[in-house]
Amino acid sequence: PKTRSEYLEEIVRLKKEKNAVLLAHYYQEADIQDIADFVGDSLGLSRKAAETDADIIVFAGVHFMAETAKIINPTKKVILPDVNAGCSLAESAPVGPFKAFVEAHPDHIVVTYINCTAEIKAMSDIICTSSNAVDIINSIPKDQKIICAPDRNLGEYLIHQTGRDMLLWDGACMVHEAFAMDKILDLHKANPQAKFIAHPESQQQVLRVASFVGSTEKLLNFVQEDKSEEFIVATEAGILHEMQKRVPNKRLIPAPAKEDNTCACSECHFMKMNTLEKLYLCLKNETPEIDVPEDIRKKALIPLERMFELSK
Ligand code: 13P
Ligand code: SF4
Repeated sequence: PKTRSEYLEEIVRLKKEKNAVLLAHYYQEADIQDIADFVGDSLGLSRKAAETDADIIVFAGVHFMAETAKIINPTKKVILPDVNAGCSLAESAPVGPFKAFVEAHPDHIVVTYINCTAEIKAMSDIICTSSNAVDIINSIPKDQKIICAPDRNLGEYLIHQTGRDMLLWDGACMVHEAFAMDKILDLHKANPQAKFIAHPESQQQVLRVASFVGSTEKLLNFVQEDKSEEFIVATEAGILHEMQKRVPNKRLIPAPAKEDNTCACSECHFMKMNTLEKLYLCLKNETPEIDVPEDIRKKALIPLERMFELSK
């Protein structure tokens, strides 16, 4: 094992030597965010993956994100520090039952959240992320029936925002479902001046009391632009690192989770599977490599390209 600074040094050296770009999500641990070439939300990261001229994309995120990078930019080698860094939301849409669901509703257009596997993307008509979902739903003709999958919380939020009656798949993110409403209300009572903001993967009872709802990037922009000095933030706790950098003088309070875990806030254990050591080994050995079978990749690319077109 090396020291933290040795890992950091080696990662920088290997990135340069191998012409690799390090893309990191806001939920990654602080050191990984700090050493990344780009830190972003799902939409920003997929755009960066599309436009990079690096030979290797090192994805410090979860499996579906690395897979998305490979679908969009197949000539690049895409590597993920821990191949087991999955996603409870992606897991909640298994291929067989989802295929049956889609086939049972042939008159519906399938709008799928990017948090899903390549196979599910291949069965979809348009991909969305939490930052473009409202615009994408609004772009669909009013008389067109819609399946919205796999996140029922985002789906219910979108029904509320757009007034569209959509058929929802019953999936969820375990991290965003872990927020404790009673503790949030107590916290807000104790800090009445703090604005409560939340990610749309959270449950409706949480979203209903939020002053602002948005993707990680939109939450970051909101705390910068809003006049308030204090915020209670309901999304994965990793975001607080970038948030505090952007608003060093504001007070940020992570929304409490139902079960008392060590940090009493919500952490995605999949996102946290990536460590500096695994990142270093992944760059050194160029493995685990993420591949997508070509027939699935081609089909999955179509709804992703539609998303890019609709969210220019
Ligand atoms: P965004 O960064 O696109 O808001 O996604 C949140 C998330 O849960 C990623 O796994
Ligand atoms: Fe998946 Fe939720 Fe973790 Fe995001 S935070 S990777 S949606 S389990």
